[in-house]
Amino acid sequence: MYDLTVIIPTFKEEANIRTIITEVETVFRNSGLNGEILVVDDNSPDNTIAIVSELKKTLPNLNLLVRTSDHGLSQSVADGFSHASADVFVVIDADLSHPPALIPKMYAEIRAGADIVIGSRYMEGGGIRKWPIKRRVISLGATFLGRLLFPEVTDPVSGFFALRKSVVTHAKLKPRGYKILLEVLGKGSWENDKEIPFEFSDREVGSSKLKIKTIIEYAQQVIDITLYSFFHHESAAWREWKKVFKFGIVGISGIIVNQGLLIALKEYAGLPIPIASIIAIQMAILNNFLWNDIWTFKEMGKPQKISSRWQRLLAFEVVSAGGAVINFAVLNAFVTFLVMDYQAANIIGILLGFVWNFLVNRRFTWVRKHE
Ligand code: GDD
Ligand code: MN
Repeated sequence: MYDLTVIIPTFKEEANIRTIITEVETVFRNSGLNGEILVVDDNSPDNTIAIVSELKKTLPNLNLLVRTSDHGLSQSVADGFSHASADVFVVIDADLSHPPALIPKMYAEIRAGADIVIGSRYMEGGGIRKWPIKRRVISLGATFLGRLLFPEVTDPVSGFFALRKSVVTHAKLKPRGYKILLEVLGKGSWENDKEIPFEFSDREVGSSKLKIKTIIEYAQQVIDITLYSFFHHESAAWREWKKVFKFGIVGISGIIVNQGLLIALKEYAGLPIPIASIIAIQMAILNNFLWNDIWTFKEMGKPQKISSRWQRLLAFEVVSAGGAVINFAVLNAFVTFLVMDYQAANIIGILLGFVWNFLVNRRFTWVRKHE
């Protein structure tokens, strides 16, 4: 039985397929891994199939799956999942954009307990070479959307990743487009993920098949995963929505603390309004911080990036100040420039401040440590 199956999706890769297979075989040999290579080809009209068939004669661990319907990268990878022999999979592009040398490290992380291991271009040590500005911008947009669903993952649309078979055995994947990893993260069963930095180097030979349609499909996919998570509470994205919801409840409790203290300090303690308000606001922030720290983000797990509670409080204070500025600016701008009713404008300001507070705190205050 194989330790792992390396899945290589291909379409018109006659110029690269021989090299990638040779490189992966070399990695197997040098690391002592007993690996299978599964090329999943969409019936390429060039020589890809012929080359793989020829290599198969001397490589008993090389297999080829030729698909003739439902053409597509994600579909091919998903088919690869169900035809692979091992119970650990690594997905890698054929065009040498991903370094096969990282395969043993990915495999070791799976063995050490990770369910999904992602090769990341967007974490420290990772990067992208030879990409035009346009592609960088599109990729950053896609990454941003993906991170709304999986904030802990720096590169949720990477094409280079490893997973345990059990992550996808029962997953109802709806593969389409290019971002099969996002689909796996959204619908697979997993708890622990791990990212490894790598430098993506764009293909030397052949051309990328990314089109406008790809972008539209991606947006549909994000919506689909969002809806899916509302009905599947064990999914990773739902774990995230739960935090948004709790963060909102805590926010409401803060309003009560703020208003209650303001009234109490003014009416019963006789403090002047500015003083009473500063205390009330500060206590509300403290209230919110504590509830978020022990409740909203409790299943954060042990190792946090900011390990000291005092430092998290400081971060929260700074972010909250930003949220207050947004609320203030939106209220005044909408009243002045859009002649909007001040109450409606304030609600919009509060909501935008909330979005800011959640997203920024999620990104900086309560983040897991990537060791
Ligand atoms: N079977 C099959 N069917 N394979 C395909 C198809 C298809 O329709 N389209 C592309 N492939 C194969 C290519 O042969 C290559 O091995 C790999 O999938 C990536 O295709 P590229 O066209 O080179 O993709 P890219 O470089 O634009 O995109 C890469 O980076 C993205 C992140 O920016 C891929 O790794 C994407 O998965 C990744 O999201
Ligand atoms: Mn490529």
